[in-house]
Amino acid sequence: MALDRKPTPNDLNAFWMPFTANRQFKKAPRMFVGAKDMHYTTSDGRQVLDGTAGLWCCNAGHCRPKITEAISRQAGELDYAPAFQMGHPIAFELANRLIDIAPKGIEHVFYTNSGSESVETALKLAIAYHRARGEGARTRLIGRERGYHGVNFGGISVGGIVNNRKVFGTLLGGVDHMPHTHLPGVNAYSHGQPEHGANLADELERIVALHGAETIAAVIVEPVAGSTGVLIPPKGYLEKLRAITAKHGILLIFDEVITGFGRLGSPFAAQHFDVLPDLMTTAKGLTNGVIPMGAVLTTAAVHDAFMTGPEHMIELFHGYTYSGNPIASAAAIATLDTYKEEGLFEACADIAPYWEQALHSLKGLPHVIDIRNLGLIGAVELEGIAGEPTKRAFSAFLAAYDKGILIRTTGDIIAMSPPLIVSRAQIDELIGKLGDVLRGLA
Ligand SMILES: Cc1ncc(COP(=O)(O)O)c(C=O)c1O
Repeated sequence: MALDRKPTPNDLNAFWMPFTANRQFKKAPRMFVGAKDMHYTTSDGRQVLDGTAGLWCCNAGHCRPKITEAISRQAGELDYAPAFQMGHPIAFELANRLIDIAPKGIEHVFYTNSGSESVETALKLAIAYHRARGEGARTRLIGRERGYHGVNFGGISVGGIVNNRKVFGTLLGGVDHMPHTHLPGVNAYSHGQPEHGANLADELERIVALHGAETIAAVIVEPVAGSTGVLIPPKGYLEKLRAITAKHGILLIFDEVITGFGRLGSPFAAQHFDVLPDLMTTAKGLTNGVIPMGAVLTTAAVHDAFMTGPEHMIELFHGYTYSGNPIASAAAIATLDTYKEEGLFEACADIAPYWEQALHSLKGLPHVIDIRNLGLIGAVELEGIAGEPTKRAFSAFLAAYDKGILIRTTGDIIAMSPPLIVSRAQIDELIGKLGDVLRGLA
């Protein structure tokens, strides 16, 4: 029987869709039924150019043969093995491969299944690390306004996106927030890192003075804030955060869930900015988005603090049924092979200036009030419709989909992060069609 390439489910009610306007979607569904390299195929047979690498995750593009083959091979060989008190070689192999590309000084890997779980794991590790070293009063966690660290309780507590927090009760106690780094008055239309705002890191000194360094476990930031609408760190800002945290014995966590695996042209943002955190959270591009997997990467100092006590005792009471799942591990190794064999991190660095120039060509189009970029990340901020926030950008998203390009919107900001295999011609197509969309917006 011929495969029906256009499935049209007759009842969309049961699936409560995440981060979706469910009622709007179900009146006019947008369905992908296939994907290859830079394109999705829709259920009505159209090709859509992927301007977002799925959700910032398919860095090598879609349905890459090496990854799909590794998954099917592994599924037939060792489908599942427990990671509690048992091992399987492929998870160890992957950990070594990750350390090979991690910044010097990062030496250990703890597996999770998502970015949100990586964040929870990193926050728990930070608190438990200090306790293991006899500094059990260090329990406070410091995040940042507009930060996005997934959707679990720790992540939304240190996160700073109001809608993700306000209906979920009191969240974690003992959390404080640094100010965000968005300064449109002085930094609008910056190419790459903005000039102004490094001094905002000094706010951490104020928070330390308020609570006492001896109560603070960790500071967590996205090196480039993505889901809040792409906020590029001002020049010198991350370096200052590192200096202040180090001075006060506070761990620095980089949430590299979107910046990891080549998005800035280096394996991780830590290398791009030449700032070494104590912990890094990853997911998404780790498996090219194909299979859920995340990983927290740590320094030897963090790991070694736990390696005390009797050897038969579990050192850390934390982990997931699927930590280091064999199929996910195989997918991740094949993903790292694909990045390496095709030189995709270098390809990102090579094409980033072209991306920057194309993106900034949208300056002056209707409603555009700022454009931001770094690596293969870009954002176009629109002036919202008075009294109807998000509506203008959402209209742009729908119009873009009709024109055959996939973009993402958050608030009234259009965010883009194409797969690292994107060509110049595809950048021209993406930006050209986005320009047409903007010209047609009410
Ligand atoms: C910086 C950051 N942290 C955490 C997450 C959460 O990842 P997940 O959706 O895999 O839980 C995301 C997702 O976009 C992210 O951008």
